[in-house]
Amino acid sequence: MSGFSADWLDLRAPADAAARDKGLLEQVAALTPRRILDLGCGTGAMLATLRPYLASGTAWVLVDGDADLLGEAECRANGLRREDPGLAVTCLHRNLVDDPLPLDGARPDLVTATALFDLVSAGWLDQFLDALAAQRLPLYAALSYDGEMRWEPAHPRDATITAAFNRHQRSEKGFGGPALGPDAPQAMRAGLEARGYRVFTAATPWQIGADQAALLSALIDGIAGAVPEGDSWRAVRQQETRFGYVGHQDVLALPA
Ligand SMILES: C[S@@+](CC[C@H](N)C(=O)[O-])C[C@H]1O[C@@H](n2cnc3c(N)ncnc32)[C@H](O)[C@@H]1O
Repeated sequence: MSGFSADWLDLRAPADAAARDKGLLEQVAALTPRRILDLGCGTGAMLATLRPYLASGTAWVLVDGDADLLGEAECRANGLRREDPGLAVTCLHRNLVDDPLPLDGARPDLVTATALFDLVSAGWLDQFLDALAAQRLPLYAALSYDGEMRWEPAHPRDATITAAFNRHQRSEKGFGGPALGPDAPQAMRAGLEARGYRVFTAATPWQIGADQAALLSALIDGIAGAVPEGDSWRAVRQQETRFGYVGHQDVLALPA
C-alpha cells in the first residue's frame, strides 16, 4: 500500500482529465510512441488517457510500488484490450527508489508519469534525468503540483494553510530526501534543460466547482489533515467553499 487509494485516484481522475493540457497531449501523440513506460502508474490513468490518442497496438510497461493499485491497473488494462486487442500491457511491481528503472531490454520510446514528480527528491530526480538523458528518451510528466491554491469565497487563513501544506508537500515521501513538492515543475524544467532537452510546459490546474462536491470535500479534508493548524480551516471550508483551484504543471521534454 502506498497511501494512494484507488478510490482517491478515481475521485480525482475527472479533474485530472479536464486539467491535462490537450496541446501537449497532441504533441505526445505526434511522437507516435510504440513502447511507453509509465512510472507510478496507480490504476493506469495515463494509459486510459493516452490510448485514444495513439495508434492501436501500443506496448506499455506500467510500474508501481503498490501491488493493489497495480492489480487494479492490470484489470483495467484487460478491459481496454477488449477495445484494442493489439494493446500489450506489462505490469511491474517495482519500487522506483530501490529497483533499477526498466529502461534497458525492450527499450521504451517514451517515458510518462502523472502526479509523481512532486513526490520525488532532488537527488532521485537528478539520477532519473541522467538515466533518461543517457538513452535520449522523451518524457511526458503530467500534473505536478506547483504550490498554488485558491478558494472561493476566500478566507483569511487560506494563505497560511497553503504555506503549511506546501511545507508538508516538501517532506520526505520515500524517495531518499525531502520531496520536491511545489518545486517539482521548476526543478524538472531546469534539470531537463541542463541535459539539452527542449521543454514544453503548460499550467494544468484543477478547477473544481460545486458539481464536484465529493472531490472538493475530500481535497479539503486531505489538506486540513496534512497540516497541524488545519481543523478550524476545515470546518469553515467544508461549509462555505463553492470553488477550489489547485495549480499543476504538465511537462513534455524532447531530447534535442
Ligand atoms: C499520486 S499517485 C498517481 C497515480 C497515477 N499516476 C494517477 O495519476 O492516477 C502516485 C503513485 O506513485 C506510486 N509511488 C509512490 N512512490 C513510489 C515508489 N517509491 N515506487 C513505485 N511507485 C511509487 C504510488 O503507489 C502511486 O500509485
